Amino acid sequence: MADFVGAIDQGTTSTRFMIFDHGGNEVGRHQLEHEQILPQAGWVEHNPIEIWERTVAVARTAMGKLNLGATDLAALGITNQRETTVVWDRRTGRPYYNAIVWQDTRTDRIASALDRDGRGDVIRQKAGLPPATYFSGGKIQWILENVDGVREAAERGDAIFGNTDSWLLWNLTGGVDGGKHVTDVTNASRTMLMNLETLQWDDELLSFFGIPRAMLPEIRPSSDASGYGVCRVAGPLGGEVPITGDLGDQQAATVGQVCFSVGEAKNTYGTGNFMLLNTGTELVRSSNGLLTTVAYQLGDAAPVYALEGSIAVTGSAVQWLRDQLRIIGNAAESESLAAQVEDSGGVYFVPAFSGLFAPYWRSDARGAIVGLSRYNTNAHIARATLESICYQSRDVVEAMREDSGVTLDVLKVDGGVTANNLCMQLQADVLGVPVSRPVVAETTALGAAYAAGLAVGFWKDTNELRANWNESQRWTPNWDADRREAGYGRWKKAVERTLGWVD
Ligand code: G3P
Repeated sequence: MADFVGAIDQGTTSTRFMIFDHGGNEVGRHQLEHEQILPQAGWVEHNPIEIWERTVAVARTAMGKLNLGATDLAALGITNQRETTVVWDRRTGRPYYNAIVWQDTRTDRIASALDRDGRGDVIRQKAGLPPATYFSGGKIQWILENVDGVREAAERGDAIFGNTDSWLLWNLTGGVDGGKHVTDVTNASRTMLMNLETLQWDDELLSFFGIPRAMLPEIRPSSDASGYGVCRVAGPLGGEVPITGDLGDQQAATVGQVCFSVGEAKNTYGTGNFMLLNTGTELVRSSNGLLTTVAYQLGDAAPVYALEGSIAVTGSAVQWLRDQLRIIGNAAESESLAAQVEDSGGVYFVPAFSGLFAPYWRSDARGAIVGLSRYNTNAHIARATLESICYQSRDVVEAMREDSGVTLDVLKVDGGVTANNLCMQLQADVLGVPVSRPVVAETTALGAAYAAGLAVGFWKDTNELRANWNESQRWTPNWDADRREAGYGRWKKAVERTLGWVD
């Protein structure tokens, strides 16, 4: 058998191709960013053609750097930014509109209407999600209603929908020449259109958004030996490779962090934060503002569910310090600037730029910096920004404890912000539990590789994957309980100030 497994990680800001060996070690990678298109306040788009071209380029370059060919890869896995919505013409391969990104809030009217007439409760019950701009259903409806000719084409079966996993899968497997229109259960669980119990598209949910069923991809398990087809000869790998894994990126990180037992959780720190807690084959419904989602489905095995706390703005708040306030030159400087002071000097920053996601789900919230006095400096604002990442995660941990009764012994972390030592120390302080980061920090791509490799026998079972996980660093709490609870109380007060800001 070939020595490696490949993974495409199509994220919000960049696309990367990674190559892993049997020990789960990274042996190669290449990564390219794509444009963030911001046509007006609250709108965020990507160009699907650019994403496809970047995917081809990163795969070719990563393979070329190591002089590898298609026969060196036992399988290929795909993972992707979830919810981001592409609608394209299956006859020409051309998108009808730019991809509407998960952060985009243009569908706020569609989302709030769902809660006024009882449809919202049906969505909560069947799809496990609160009606919100975040998910794909409203974005598809917006394209059907606002882009000329799409509804007719959708009814004919020519206009088809996918998240970026489906878009890439269709192109990789042949595009207009017989490309497969497929997705996996984890991605489908982010649309408001899939019934979490049947794992199929649900006609009642489709009717809420006026979406013709013919637009939707076939739903497959996340690890599947034959359902995704093969990456074609003319494709980016220069030969045929079976595509056998597909998961949304946060679910992939859950697999990469080997959270295979009930009660195991991971927190990924990217542009936003996404904490997933494995709840096993049981569907746990949240009463505290978390999402119920599919964590993964490996082949014919029963699906494993998760509770998820999605936070829209964490790493992107640090980018805001860099790009808008310009008080730091790069993300790493947020650590050195914040380290100039002992604490945030009474300042709390709630970065509710897109409203607040979990556990609040308030699209009427907007950001606030509170507690300012003349004493405060840029350093306090930088420190309050890092603390906001940690306090938002604490909000999610509290909701998880209330929903599931699970108290974390340790928090497994990954993602770009985990390179910030001060932020991770603050996270341990704010939670009062140790924080642990693995050696392979690219858990998202690794999880997609694991799903793909399990399907072809490259890895035997999840126990073999567990043995690959090793800790690289651990932060233990320094704050005493009084300091921790006083700080959290002030945070909750600051959050109150942001709610209801938008009429
Ligand atoms: O739900 C959105 C999430 O999948 C985005 O993740 O890492 O691409 O920002 P990321």
